[in-house]
Amino acid sequence: MSGAKGVTVLGICGSLRAGSFNKAALRTAIELKPPGMTIETADIGSIPLYDEDVRALGFPPPVEKLRAQIAAADALLFVTPEYNYSMPGVLKNAIDWASRPPDQPFAGKPAAIMGAAAGLAGSARAQYDLRRSCVFLDIHPLNRPEVLIGQAQTKFDASGRLTDDVARGLIGDMLVALEKWTRLIGRK
Ligand SMILES: Cc1cc2nc3c(=O)[nH]c(=O)nc-3n(C[C@H](O)[C@H](O)[C@H](O)COP(=O)(O)O)c2cc1C
Repeated sequence: MSGAKGVTVLGICGSLRAGSFNKAALRTAIELKPPGMTIETADIGSIPLYDEDVRALGFPPPVEKLRAQIAAADALLFVTPEYNYSMPGVLKNAIDWASRPPDQPFAGKPAAIMGAAAGLAGSARAQYDLRRSCVFLDIHPLNRPEVLIGQAQTKFDASGRLTDDVARGLIGDMLVALEKWTRLIGRK
């Protein structure tokens, strides 16, 4: 769409470790994004464990920040490892905090989901659990292409560069599809 404003995306990564393959995959997405798209990243590492008593006193600052980033973004990009066949607790905890009323910020947002894991399935089960949460949150996840980076320890070099050309191609294709999806459902 020539002359259209670029789609703004918030990347949310479910791994906190410095050498994370998922953080590296998110950096790859930033590298491969289509022209005009911007991808900001969320910091979920300082969000406390969810406690309804704490919420009753007000959202902690890192949660306020995440909620504002989600609300401001045209679309979301979840990048998640798989922990015990599901999404990591840190990601679920951040989603749980951000999802609380008022003004649930996820509602109506388009999203793409990708992930890297040590197993052959490349975080598939975590991604499907996340898709289940999208139903309740009224997020509209992109169906395809799916980006499942299996045996992640063999797909990145020592500097964290994704060396697998198939995965790089899929990430690029997914971001183009996310841009189209965001415009299609009228969020841009
Ligand atoms: C608590 C825990 C549970 C894990 N469970 C799975 C799993 O179910 N499937 C899988 O493929 N890998 C599993 N792994 C291995 C992760 O895929 C691997 O540590 C991966 O590198 C994590 O992503 P990161 O590099 O972005 O931190 C698990 C790792 C941890 C720490």
